[in-house]
This record gives sequence, C-alpha cells and structure tokens, in this order.
Amino acid sequence: MCGIVGYIGTRPALPILIRGLRSLEYRGYDSAGVATPGTDGLRIVKASGRLDRLIERVEQTVDDTATIGIAHTRWATHGPPTEANAHPHADCSGAVAVVHNGIIENFSELKLWLEKSGHRFVSETDTEVLAHLIEEYHENDLSASVRAALRHLRGTYGLAVMHAAHPREIVVARLGSPIVIGIGTGETLVASDPSALVGTTRNVMYLDDGEMARLDASGVQVTTLQAAPVEKALQEIQWTEKEIEKGGFAHYMLKEMHEQPETVRSALRGRLASDGGVTLGAFSDLRAALKDMRRIQIIACGSAYYASLVGAQMIERLARIPVSVDLASEYRYREPVMPSRTALLAVSQSGETADTLAALRLAKNAGLMTMGIVNAVGSTIAREVDAGIYNHAGPEIGVASTKAFVSQLSVFLVFALALGRERGLPPDEAERIAKALELLPMQIERVLRSRDQVAEWASQLSEKRHVMYLGRTLHYPIALEGALKLKEVSYLHAEGYASGEMKHGPIAMVEAGFPVVALAPHDAVFEKVKNNLEEVRARGAKTFAVTTPEGLRTLGRAADNALEIPTTHPLVQPILSVIPLQMLAYETAVAKGLDVDKPRNLAKSVTVE
Ligand code: M6R
Repeated sequence: MCGIVGYIGTRPALPILIRGLRSLEYRGYDSAGVATPGTDGLRIVKASGRLDRLIERVEQTVDDTATIGIAHTRWATHGPPTEANAHPHADCSGAVAVVHNGIIENFSELKLWLEKSGHRFVSETDTEVLAHLIEEYHENDLSASVRAALRHLRGTYGLAVMHAAHPREIVVARLGSPIVIGIGTGETLVASDPSALVGTTRNVMYLDDGEMARLDASGVQVTTLQAAPVEKALQEIQWTEKEIEKGGFAHYMLKEMHEQPETVRSALRGRLASDGGVTLGAFSDLRAALKDMRRIQIIACGSAYYASLVGAQMIERLARIPVSVDLASEYRYREPVMPSRTALLAVSQSGETADTLAALRLAKNAGLMTMGIVNAVGSTIAREVDAGIYNHAGPEIGVASTKAFVSQLSVFLVFALALGRERGLPPDEAERIAKALELLPMQIERVLRSRDQVAEWASQLSEKRHVMYLGRTLHYPIALEGALKLKEVSYLHAEGYASGEMKHGPIAMVEAGFPVVALAPHDAVFEKVKNNLEEVRARGAKTFAVTTPEGLRTLGRAADNALEIPTTHPLVQPILSVIPLQMLAYETAVAKGLDVDKPRNLAKSVTVE
C-alpha cells in the first residue's frame, strides 16, 4: 500500500506523475516506480528507497514525451521493500502494468493456480497476481479484462491498470482503498489521495467501493464492478494544499487517530472469523514448536511495551501460558534467565528500535525461538525473527504512536485467541471475543465523536503542571500509555499508576485541584477503582473518569467529570478506553499551542541506544 498517481492527456506525463508522487511522500514509503509506454510494450522503472533515486533512473531511461503513465510509492506489506517488490507490477508479457493499494487476502492460492497455468512471478507481493490475472483474462476490452480478474480477488484494493494494447486508457477500481479521479481540460488523472491532484486540477470525483472507471484524455466512464453505468457528480476541492496533505486534518496525530477504525479492520482482516476461528501465518509456521512452549517472554520499548503489558494479560487469560514482559533496554543488560521452551516475542512498530533489536539478538543467540509483532514490513526485526505477524496499520507519521498501539492490542488479542484455541479455550468464548472485535471499529468511531467533551477536559488540564492516570489490571498499562501520550505531546508531567498502589506512596502528591484521570469501565474491578477515585477526591483531587454506561450510572460523585464509552468484551475494552486518552493528549497539546506532530527532543524511530 501507499500512493497511486496516474495521468492521461496531451502533456508529458512524467513530470506530472513525479509531482504527484512527491505530494504523497508525507505518507511514508520505501520504494517507488512508474510505468509509461515503451517502444516494445510498457516501460517500467523502479527504485527502492527515496523518490530521488527513481527520478535519477527515470531521467536516464524514460522517453519524456509519453502522455500516459501510472506511478506508485510503496510501503511494504507483502515482501520486503526491494526493487522487485516495488510497483508497478507486470504480467509475463510485459504488456500489463498494475499499481495497487490494499491487501489481496487470497493471493497465495491465486499465485499457485496461476503458476500451474504457466505464469512466472518475479516478486513476493500480493499485487503481482493481479497483473497475471489480467493477462489471463485479456480480451479486446481492458475494462472487461480487469473486471474478470477482480472477480477472483478476496481483500481490498484501490488500483490503476495500463495495457500496451490499449495505449490511450487507464482502468481504475476501488474496494476498501481510496481512488479519486481528477478531471482537467483534455487530461484526466487518478490518485489514491487528492493531494496528488491539486497541482493539476481541483475538479474531482471519488469512486465508491465496488466501482471501477475507464479514463481517457477526454474524461471518464464510471461503472459498477458488474458493468452497470454509474452517474457521478464532480466536486471541487476546497482544501489548501497543507490541509490536503493530512487528509483535511490539522495534524498527522489527529489523522492517525481517525484511521484507527480501519487499523483494527486491517489487523483482523483474513485472520479472525466471526466464529472465533483464527488463521495466522506465523502461527501455522510455528504450530508444533509453540505447542511445546512453557513460557512467553515479550520485549519492547515505549508504547509497544505498554501494548505488550496488555497483550501479556490477554495471552495469560485466554491461553493460560505464563508471560513476562521486559523493557528491551533493561532485558539486554540485566542478565536474564532464558529457559529453553521459552518463545521470545519482539513488539515494534518500526521494526528498527535499537534496544528491541539488541534484545532480540541476545535471545536468538541463547537459542530461543523468536517471533515478532511488527508494522514495518521488511524491517530488521521483521527479517530476523523466526516468524512474525504484521500489523498492516500503514505508515505512522506522528511521533506519538496512536494507530500502531491500537493495532498492536488488536493483533495481541488475535494471537492470544490462536494460542487459546490450541489450549482448550471454549469456542463460544472465542466467538464472543471475535464478535466484539467486529463491532470495535464502529465503537471507536463513536468515541472519536466525543471530541468536544475531551477538548473541555483538555482546557482544564492545560492549566496544570502534573496529571496522574489510574487503572487496574488490563487498564493499568492503558493508564501508563495515557500518561506517556500526554508527556510526549503536551510536555505536562504525567504518571500512570496501578490504582491499588495509590496508598503506597503517590497519594501524598494529591492536593486541591490535582488532576487524576481514571480508567473506570464497569468491569470486575470497577468498585475498587471507584473507591480509589473517592479517596483522591476526598483529598481535593479533580477527578476525570473514562467509563461505560453502567459505570456512569454508579460513579456518583467519585467523578467530577465522566466520559462515556461503549461497553464491550472485557478483553476488548482497553482497545476502546485508550482512544479518549490519545484525544486528551492531543487536545491538551493543541490548547497549549504546541507542535503536536513534532514534539521536542523526540524521533519517530529510535535506532540508537
Ligand atoms: O518502533 P517501536 O514500536 O519499536 O518504537 C518504540 C517506542 O520508541 C515508541 O513506541 C515511542 O514510545 C513512541 N513515541 C510512543 O508514542
């Protein structure tokens, strides 16, 4: 996945395609490529790494008089960020070029079938099957060929296709991944994001899921995937270029928080069935070895560490295997005991965090079996573990992790379910959790709509210097994460505590007006958290509670401020409870006039010790 640009018109396509790719750079990518007509078939040029490398190659090789082309920046999902895996992907004959965002879930079966019919594959991507399918079904009408190919796909796509035999058209389609078409004078464009179009036109139409379109220089014909014509209205983009870059959001952090419903879907897609059945590649690779494991050791840093603290509880509850969690920076130096029959699990968004990598290597050298939960495909950690589960959360640009954290929690729960099913977890319990996870994206959307209330809390906090976060069991790590988020972006001093620890010291800090934020869903420890809130309130604290409807009814005066979130399965609840805390950190930073996306002293990926 990442950015798509296509052009057909009368002007040289290359500068327009490159400008489009440039405007998509902010989304993150690890390789790029472009396809234009060549003397014999299509000419595809690709490069791994920065766009400048592609531009150098393009300048040396491509005929810049071509007036049609498609281009892509890739952020690896299937296969590492190599040149071979970069888009566009071609068929065997080199006549078809495809750029694609999304995930083709059944690509392994399709690849097997196509290979049996004689197709030769050159990449590890899911996208390449599409080029070969179009070759397989190619007839005079390119739209019909694409339509026939799409019938075989399970998964999501936003795609653009060129064919050497149809040099004056581009075919595009959408299911779950955005496609926007730009209409100019005597020229038509396509992109995955309107920011790639505004340099050329502001007149656009958005494809809806299940629609495809044929583009030529004079315009566009939109149909359904079943070939029924669709009338679409043109819209004018009103946003400034800066706003467009962030999808209309003021900051990447805000944009990424709003992507979380989709992040959860992507973490579950193809892995979790409604009846609780789990399909995890990593799990099947290691099934026999995992059966033999007596212990799981998790290592991670920062937010990934807090996600792991929740994950450990999920695994212990569902699979009854003992799990320890260590900060990677501690683990590597504390001379840990590494008993055999321990599986080591490294958790990292970037897959490049120096401490996590060093701790992983330490465990590997000691002979432990290693696994990973990693977002960045092809990253060092992803390559070095014996088996891994990808988050498929897409690039996270904001330094403060939001969607990667939510994705890590979702993946942990799926992994815990997979282990649990192997170890006697009753199927009806697995089904209950799967059903709750299915509803989760909708519930996250609901919580994201509480922005005004959170902003009101933030206006209170922005006046303070210290904030305490409280939670118990699964919500203790969420309190830690909430405090970390607030520290990172608002520079307020914040501490997360297990609320049962209050009397062991921290309550001494509480004085009149001291803000205490508690995670208080109506769960097995609700009464205890409520008591803790009453205790701090009795000493003058200003209390803020994130709670569920039943909690709201019973909190009474324990909470000066209460924000309601939906009730879900207890193991899913923390994934929902963290959303208001992310929003609170964001709104507090905004209220203080700080640069949310570039917090001082922080880097997105900590590749040095
Ligand atoms: O890339 P990783 O997940 O390994 O990164 C770990 C931490 O550096 C990261 O979570 C950091 O704490 C974030 N800034 C949190 O928002």
